[in-house]
Amino acid sequence: MTINQLAVEAKAVSASYSGAKEPILYDVNLELPQGNFIALIGPNGAGKSTLFKLLVGLKKPEQGSIRLNGDTVKAHRKKQKISYIPQEGELDWDFPILVKDVIKTGLFGKRNYSLFDKLLRFNLYKKEELQKIDEVLELVDLKNKKNSPIKSLSGGQKKRVFLARALIQNAEILLLDEPLTGVDQQSEEIIMDLLKKGAADGKTILMASHDIAATREYADLAILINKTIIKVGDPDELITKEWIKEVFGKSLHYL
Ligand SMILES: Nc1ncnc2c1ncn2[C@@H]1O[C@H](COP(=O)(O)OP(=O)(O)OP(=O)(O)O)[C@@H](O)[C@H]1O
Ligand SMILES: [Mg+2]
Repeated sequence: MTINQLAVEAKAVSASYSGAKEPILYDVNLELPQGNFIALIGPNGAGKSTLFKLLVGLKKPEQGSIRLNGDTVKAHRKKQKISYIPQEGELDWDFPILVKDVIKTGLFGKRNYSLFDKLLRFNLYKKEELQKIDEVLELVDLKNKKNSPIKSLSGGQKKRVFLARALIQNAEILLLDEPLTGVDQQSEEIIMDLLKKGAADGKTILMASHDIAATREYADLAILINKTIIKVGDPDELITKEWIKEVFGKSLHYL
């Protein structure tokens, strides 16, 4: 990682879904520095999840270009330098897999195995790797759930499992799509403290959230988005009553 390189550089990016008349995102320009905890704020349908899909390479921009830490999206993903935790409804929670095996999938990119080998060697892990699994589960306070099926966990616990998976992957950019939805106070603090620490260690944390209070408390930078980037800056200065009313069409009583 070169010092002072931009973590995310998007130039004139637009994106559409087939069948839609208008683009979902248009003229998205972003220059995000490394080592920051950044919140992505905007109403339902603003294109937050779509932007994450573009950054992680699950969707291609219709126009424009994206670079991550100087690399193309494809190269960045190939090097396992980006980790993505999708929004709740996008994960298949019924998949029959144990918590420890979810964490193990975060190690796949570090191994030079073919897909067949990876599947075959699913249970052949080095001692250090197994220790690391315990360590990350300890960090998210879920060591006692190591051998539980993922579907038996609560919503907040599942999010913590995926955070542990992202931690073991040790990616440089971490995308979290609404990690705080349906999460209790204790889980929220665990998640946010880990993210803060990640940013202090030089990682770039990008979190889509409707939680204005948490954004004000934890984020270094906020991006206001509504189909295009409206503003980027200090959360306290950006998230004003006027803006909330303009974009969300209503006042929020706690502001
Ligand atoms: N797979 C899809 N096919 C067609 N349209 C889609 C698809 N996914 C999202 N959209 C549309 O794109 C727009 C942006 O959706 P997106 O999920 O990016 O918004 P969001 O900001 O993440 O919203 P939320 O706060 O509800 O999560 C919405 O109008 C949505 O209906
Ligand atoms: Mg979304």
